[in-house]
Amino acid sequence: MEVIIQPTKEAAANLVARIISKEVRANPNAVLGLATGRTMEAVYDLVAAMHKQEGLDFSLCKTFNLDEYVGLPGTDPHSYRYYMNEHLFQKVNVDVRNTYLPDGTAPDLDAECQRYEDNIKRFGGIDLQLLGIGRSGHIGFNEPLSALLSRTRVKPLTPTTIEQNQGLFDKPEKMPRRAITMGVGTILDARRCILLATGAEKAEIIAKAVEGPVTSMISATALQLHRRCTVVVDESAATKLQGCDYYRWVFQNEPEWQEFLS
Ligand code: GLP
Repeated sequence: MEVIIQPTKEAAANLVARIISKEVRANPNAVLGLATGRTMEAVYDLVAAMHKQEGLDFSLCKTFNLDEYVGLPGTDPHSYRYYMNEHLFQKVNVDVRNTYLPDGTAPDLDAECQRYEDNIKRFGGIDLQLLGIGRSGHIGFNEPLSALLSRTRVKPLTPTTIEQNQGLFDKPEKMPRRAITMGVGTILDARRCILLATGAEKAEIIAKAVEGPVTSMISATALQLHRRCTVVVDESAATKLQGCDYYRWVFQNEPEWQEFLS
């Protein structure tokens, strides 16, 4: 794992957008794993601008989102399908038939989860998985005690997550109590993971996720087991990390990151 500390949340989002852009240019058929949440909005704005201004081409890409609320159709403004259409899919030239999210309204949710796993496999697995982090330490909706080898399944949401996300619903009680989420094992199968966290409210959980012991109580700690995971944070989210000097040195000096320094 490596940690990149950027001065502001804008710079952190910009770095993530540039990593995505590099991936898509190098591999036009890339299979992208996508995330939702407030943090990602800045990344998608930048990626949409790269499409418009620099011709970043998504026409051959496939996308798989991490999760979706149970019971919300894609037409519901609170669904993650709706979020993705609004923030990214309608702004770039991805073929909407190549954009996948779990269907939270499927009559047989277990079959839907299996179908999702099968589809990821059918396209050869995820090349680049984008991740945010919830206050409960979840990646996707892998709430505490998610098995580190879990696959896509239905997960009940914790009170912390409900509190964190219900403000996004016009009526808080409308927030579903369950979601379909890629499992921790599904996420770990991605060839590369990028976790973006910004703001002081993420500082404590980021320190636990990056430097704490691996535990199913905080599913983001499983990323320590991944072969190629980059955590991008702004200064506010980095305040509780112990190893900042080392992380900064690596970013400044390792050849891989030279092109991202300016
Ligand atoms: C939701 C999503 C997560 C995301 C989290 C962070 O809970 N299921 O995948 O990481 O939100 O949200 P925010 O960026 O709004 O803090």
